[in-house]
Amino acid sequence: MTAPGAGPKGAAGHTTVVHDAAELVVGPADPDTRSDRPLEILEDAALVAVGGEVVATGPTDELTREYPIENADTAVDASGKAVVPGFVDPHTHAVFAGDRSDEFEAKLRGKTYQEILAEGGGILRTVRATRETSTDDLVENLLAHLDVMLARGSTTVEVKSGYGLETETELRTLEAIARADERHPIDLVPTFLGAHAVPEGRDAAEYVDEVVEEQLPAVADQGIAEFCDVFCEQGVFNVSQSRRVLEAGIEHDLTPKVHAEELSHLGGTKLAAEVGAASADHLLHSTDEDVEALIEAGTVPVLLPGTAFGLGADYADARAFLDAGAPVAVATDFNPNCHSRSMEFVQTLSCVEMGMTPAEALVAATKNAALAIDRDDGTGTLREGAPADALVLEAPSYAHVAYRFDTSAVETVLKGGVVAARTGDRP
Ligand code: NIG
Ligand code: FE
Repeated sequence: MTAPGAGPKGAAGHTTVVHDAAELVVGPADPDTRSDRPLEILEDAALVAVGGEVVATGPTDELTREYPIENADTAVDASGKAVVPGFVDPHTHAVFAGDRSDEFEAKLRGKTYQEILAEGGGILRTVRATRETSTDDLVENLLAHLDVMLARGSTTVEVKSGYGLETETELRTLEAIARADERHPIDLVPTFLGAHAVPEGRDAAEYVDEVVEEQLPAVADQGIAEFCDVFCEQGVFNVSQSRRVLEAGIEHDLTPKVHAEELSHLGGTKLAAEVGAASADHLLHSTDEDVEALIEAGTVPVLLPGTAFGLGADYADARAFLDAGAPVAVATDFNPNCHSRSMEFVQTLSCVEMGMTPAEALVAATKNAALAIDRDDGTGTLREGAPADALVLEAPSYAHVAYRFDTSAVETVLKGGVVAARTGDRP
């Protein structure tokens, strides 16, 4: 795990020069500059990184005089191409075993997500498969998903446990995240989600006792998890049970996050604000009051349009959050019910289905997504001092990220200034 302050992934002393970019998106525009443009964009620009950190951005001719291309350990010619910050995916359930593709058909025939769960399918089915899978295999499954995410431009990814629902498998899941993090270029951010569902044959209140009294102390002892999340939903955990889990998490130094108002309006958003959660996620049924509460608390709204797409459900009201001034973030919610590992597709959905502009979607997938996981070291931007996590697109403008929905616009992925993937859709 790259602990906060331990420096970004990337080789020590390694110098990287990305030069001649048609457009370099440094990050969201500074609100004080009174520019109408939502993004700070440099043209004919270069980016220089040393030891995995951005040290300069600016005109190519100036920067390459100071940092000659031929002296760079990694030089990337971005002529005619756009360079954007690496995507941050702040909400995934990427460690699991088993296959639920048949539930896709059941849903198409009209079965609801809750009906499938009530019959022991859904999350509970993935729990059975995950419990039976070795930690080594969980690591391999996760690494395979991370390869896809990296190729599509994700350079930092939050991953939740929650398919164990018992101490041993929850701990093994978190261990799998830590082991995958050591082996993969993507930075992983681990979240404990023991309160993801009520295990079969158990009662919610009694299971919450187990989460609080047994699982959380063990997770804290293990020392991997950074956040504690809960599925606050009708028929899962109510607001007071969710509060109990999150407050116990805080006592163990785990920052709260909440799955809130996904299938109904229960009060999870207000709870997130009250406990000072880093984020409240889903928010399909949030009210104007909820929006205000999040803004006042500084809790980041994380919208997950892929989930609504997969369920054929209504989308969250992104404009209500944006117009009120909230730092909207977006994420894949990758899980067996929402098989999307692409933050590019999420940005397409954000624009087409939630009325966001491509620039708003890019900020939501980078800087604001970093805020949702408490990364305020410049992650999600390419400002000086930020981790040198950058994407060279095979297109002249950032607009192609959301605009394309057939294949990826990402050509080269730099993680900590080192080329971590080269993709693109050229045959
Ligand atoms: O965020 N809603 C709860 N958790 C996941 C779904 C997990 C699953 O169905 O396996 C979500 O959508
Ligand atoms: Fe989720």
